[in-house]
Amino acid sequence: MPTRLPIAVLVSGSGSNLQAILDASASDAFAAEVCVVISDRPAVRALERAVEAGVPAEVVAWAEHGDRDLFTAAVCRVAERHGAAALVLAGFMRILGTEAIGRFPTGILNIHPSLLPAFPGTMHAVRDALAHGVKITGVTVHYVTAEVDGGPIIAQEAVPVLPDDDEASLHARVQQVEHRLYPDVVDALARGALMIDGRRVTWKEHS
Ligand code: GRF
Repeated sequence: MPTRLPIAVLVSGSGSNLQAILDASASDAFAAEVCVVISDRPAVRALERAVEAGVPAEVVAWAEHGDRDLFTAAVCRVAERHGAAALVLAGFMRILGTEAIGRFPTGILNIHPSLLPAFPGTMHAVRDALAHGVKITGVTVHYVTAEVDGGPIIAQEAVPVLPDDDEASLHARVQQVEHRLYPDVVDALARGALMIDGRRVTWKEHS
């Protein structure tokens, strides 16, 4: 099997996107492997998923650092200690300091449950889309830069808002798309298939 790109997946909660990546990595064709799962919170479901998959899981508690730069440095240290070449944020509810960008030049990815630049911010993108009355929302996977939810967009997919939707039903439909899209983007990053030109990201064809 060719060498896979080691990635650290950063989580804060349920970890369903982590699970999708772990499931994808069971295939030899997947170009990345999860070398560590890092959570800013103890006792979350995502940590159990890592353990179930036999992947190292570590907590870097925000409360123990209390400062974005110190917290970021601690997260980077753990990821580097496990050999990670890239960071994949999957429901990670903290904003990393810019130091992380320099330390992981291969890339830091984030997934966001809206069609950015609409409804940015870590907390309530699905609720905000519903409250705004949009008929279409969706999923964005983007590079992390110093601008929160503002990095170059790698992939987007639309999700319709249905008349009877509440936040839970809409988020469930959004997540179905996330679980398909995020492993695809991680695989593309790991294959070196993502080309960045300014803000525009293009995908090289599968070889
Ligand atoms: C996802 O909807 C993601 O877009 C957002 O947080 C949610 C995390 O879900 N950033 P999970 O922890 O992967 O289940």
